[in-house]
Amino acid sequence: MPSEAPLTLVTMLGSLRRGSYNAAIARSLPELAPPSVTIAALGSVGDFPLYNADLQAEGFPAAVRRVGEEIGAADGLIFVTPEYNYSVPGVLKNAIDWLSRLPEKPFKHKPVLIQSASPGLLGGARAQYHLRQMLVYLDTYAMNVPEVMVNQVASKVDETSGRLTDQASRDFIAGQLKAFVAFIRDMQAFARDRPSRA
Ligand SMILES: Cc1cc2nc3c(=O)[nH]c(=O)nc-3n(C[C@H](O)[C@H](O)[C@H](O)COP(=O)(O)O)c2cc1C
Repeated sequence: MPSEAPLTLVTMLGSLRRGSYNAAIARSLPELAPPSVTIAALGSVGDFPLYNADLQAEGFPAAVRRVGEEIGAADGLIFVTPEYNYSVPGVLKNAIDWLSRLPEKPFKHKPVLIQSASPGLLGGARAQYHLRQMLVYLDTYAMNVPEVMVNQVASKVDETSGRLTDQASRDFIAGQLKAFVAFIRDMQAFARDRPSRA
């Protein structure tokens, strides 16, 4: 049955911090995913040089090509990111800029999910809407709802295990992942029916 076909999802993390709360959430996703769904971390955006068209002209860096291929091969992409100054961290924007220049266009028509976390009250909401604006130009299929914005995250993560431990957040994220799987299957059926959109 096509509806039971396994799916592979990949996560792009917007923080380079060793003890990152967002990393703890990304690390917890495989346990929260529906059956037959694999979730793997992409290479670190910290391995990307600062975008420079002159560097691009010499050839895409290996880290960019590798992540581009991994996104291209995945059924869906999940951004897990902090908010910096009401927007996305520069390292994430830099990675998106590089990947957007790949001739294979790894973001095009890719189902995308967004999650953010912050010690503050809004959970990174403002960064999400800046990211969504970029996703329009990249022509992704970004799922709208439910939105996952984990606020006051410091009390919801176990620093020792580096995992999301707050049960309400875990349940909500599990629900979002379930909705994302249904969304991906809908998008895949849409592409099958209209091959020119694939
Ligand atoms: C440069 C900078 C800007 C920040 N701006 C915001 C912000 O606009 N909104 C917010 O909720 N938190 C902001 N923070 C706090 C981050 O949410 C906090 O450092 C968080 O732990 C980062 O995520 P991480 O733990 O995954 O690295 C900022 C932190 C830094 C370093």
